[in-house]
Amino acid sequence: MLCKSKFIFFVFVCFLHLQGPDPNLVYQPNRTPKSQRKDFRNFETGSVAEHVYNTYKLMHTNQNVDFVKRKHLEWSGCSHTEMSMMDAVMSLDQLVDESDPDVDFPNSFHAFQTAEGIRNEHPDKDWFQLVGLIHDVGKVMALWGEPQWAVVGDTFPVGCAFQNSIVFRDSTFQDNPDDTNPSYNSKYGIYKPNCGLDNVLLSWGHDEYLYRVLQFNKCSIPEEGLNMIRYHSFYPWHSQGDYMYLCNDKDLRMLPWVNEFNKFDLYTKAAELPDVKKLCPYYQSLIDKYCPGILKCRHKVALQPTRVQMSTGAGNPDTWARTHCTAWATVEFNLRRGGAFSCEVVINTIMFRLK
Ligand SMILES: [Fe+2]
Ligand SMILES: [Fe+2]
Repeated sequence: MLCKSKFIFFVFVCFLHLQGPDPNLVYQPNRTPKSQRKDFRNFETGSVAEHVYNTYKLMHTNQNVDFVKRKHLEWSGCSHTEMSMMDAVMSLDQLVDESDPDVDFPNSFHAFQTAEGIRNEHPDKDWFQLVGLIHDVGKVMALWGEPQWAVVGDTFPVGCAFQNSIVFRDSTFQDNPDDTNPSYNSKYGIYKPNCGLDNVLLSWGHDEYLYRVLQFNKCSIPEEGLNMIRYHSFYPWHSQGDYMYLCNDKDLRMLPWVNEFNKFDLYTKAAELPDVKKLCPYYQSLIDKYCPGILKCRHKVALQPTRVQMSTGAGNPDTWARTHCTAWATVEFNLRRGGAFSCEVVINTIMFRLK
């Protein structure tokens, strides 16, 4: 009887081994007690719940198609700040993420905690460890004057229906004009089925900003790492399984990598803070390998309403705008006839930029 029990137990262990280890056990660092794990991303209770909700309320009121296009334009201008990647990571010391219900300590500690968690489980993937260190660096936008609701928190597509998988969906979107705009509130909205996330506008935040900085500086982090950075806050997709109808084959290939990263982003958060000084030399060597030197960080460009003279010979205002404005400009014209041959065009939107 005893032998039979042992045999059953042996078969059971073999079965588990063949199935592979439980990913929830493999990827969660030991230092995070299991009893605490279920409390991550608890948006309902706790000492930070109110300001977390308020940050999302502002985000879900203001992040719409027009806003996101404007942010892309503002933060992809030609004016740059230059800084090293390590300086950017350390600058996060000045920041406490108002959307994060799990931590109330400076963000640079979270960077090292995430990186060390990955290093522990993936010692052979140094680029992955570096992604852990830098993934939130885009939050520097908050130190340069961008409100936190346009920097931190979960991201979601704009230009199509806001789905129920978005946190606080029921109570925070009622003042967002896109929610009642028939062009934007259908399942696909402005997108085609399976158009690929590359072609989808997500709410503006630190993911997209850092992705663009890394691309601009031609950093050599593999595509999987770049996608982890770009979509790590897109919880409705990678954790809820929503918006799959917008994904193409590449997105589905990247999804397991984004989920792999997410485990460390979430489950390495712990009150015990890492010894940053001791860890710096190792991570500096990874920066030197993948993102060396001084990086050019695209800095916000102040776009002012612009007044230009247009001859009637230039054609109608729409034609003129297509010739003289950037692709995403939405130009509003106030035509004031100033005589038989000319009119004044007042471009009164900050989404406009002359080519
Ligand atoms: Fe993040
Ligand atoms: Fe993070």
